Amino acid sequence: MEPINVLEYETLAQARMDPMAWDYYRSGGNDEVTLRANCTAYERIRLRPRMLVDVSHCDLSTTVLGTPVSMPIMVAPTAYHCLACPEGECETARAAGEVQTLMVASTLATRPLEDIAKAASGPLWFQLYVYRDRSVSESLVRRAEAAGYRALVLTVDTPRLGRRERDIRNGFGLPPHLRMANFVEEAYADVSEREPGASALAVHAEAMFDTALTWEGLTWLRGITPLPVLVKGILTAEDAELAVEHGADGIIVSNHGGRQLDGVPATIEALPEVVDAVRGRCEVYLDGGIRRGTDVLKALGFGARGVFVGRPILWGLAVNGAAGARHVLELLRAELELAMMLAGRPTVASIDRTLVRWGAAYNQ
Ligand code: FNR
Ligand code: LAC
Repeated sequence: MEPINVLEYETLAQARMDPMAWDYYRSGGNDEVTLRANCTAYERIRLRPRMLVDVSHCDLSTTVLGTPVSMPIMVAPTAYHCLACPEGECETARAAGEVQTLMVASTLATRPLEDIAKAASGPLWFQLYVYRDRSVSESLVRRAEAAGYRALVLTVDTPRLGRRERDIRNGFGLPPHLRMANFVEEAYADVSEREPGASALAVHAEAMFDTALTWEGLTWLRGITPLPVLVKGILTAEDAELAVEHGADGIIVSNHGGRQLDGVPATIEALPEVVDAVRGRCEVYLDGGIRRGTDVLKALGFGARGVFVGRPILWGLAVNGAAGARHVLELLRAELELAMMLAGRPTVASIDRTLVRWGAAYNQ
């Protein structure tokens, strides 16, 4: 029977995928405390629904940096979609386009960014890792501009890869037929499987990513491109303030799906302080642990303009390619629509902080 929620896709995806690839998709850092917290934190939020509101027309549409999308649920940048289905990121782009939402394509895609753009009928942003050799990142920026990507997403939480112990045990890497397709040079494109004891991706990141990156890097990026720039991986008010001061057009509150520093808050816990610090000076988004429409509603309640989903899209791809990823997005959309109706909030604009309360604080 066809899955009826995102969690059923997770079970089916695990059964279908190669165990090493599955471990890579699912893993978090160290003891995976943050990975678990990203999901469970939503359970501690209570909703305050309003009754007798006309919900006969429920409108999920919104805009992101001025671009219309059919719903505030978008596709997070994740690496290596060809581990899930043959056409990888091109299938994801088709799925996102079919539901008229936005996809963020990863620097570490297994299809070239130009091919992803050709497959897409919806808007695209490009996620950027900054390499020690900045000309490598600059050339990705030029190609993203030329291919019609509308914004850049600078990931700032990954000077090195977090410690994902299953990947270390497995000697995680790509099978021989797959490459990091945005690169021609083998030194950048090749992350082939290794002996157990090291993740090829962790070794790659250590050799290539710029560990000296600071806020100057954001200034540099804004200086080389007319595209808007979002900063992904912010978890504190202090860094939100710096992001705004350095001209960020948007902030994505993210802990990289619990894959980087273990022990940081769930993203929904960090969201309120970031929203408060930003005070409307740029758009604020969230990713991490979104598995239900009610999770989306809670994030919007705490001030996110929209959310991104990572792993659920990969599960959809693994189960049924583009159709699976599309169905995952449709399930989340239907759940959000129902939740909005039952909460008496028939438009995205009608969702505000009066809708949400931390469970422990409910009677205070
Ligand atoms: C990621 N993420 C990520 N982020 C990024 O900026 N560039 C990347 O290449 C990747 N790659 C990647 C691979 C895989 C397998 C996962 C699971 C995640 C992080 C991603 O953008 C996002 O922050 C999280 O996936 C959100 O959490 P959920 O939705 O997976 O819980
Ligand atoms: C990861 C990198 C690729 O989380 O961002 O695996």
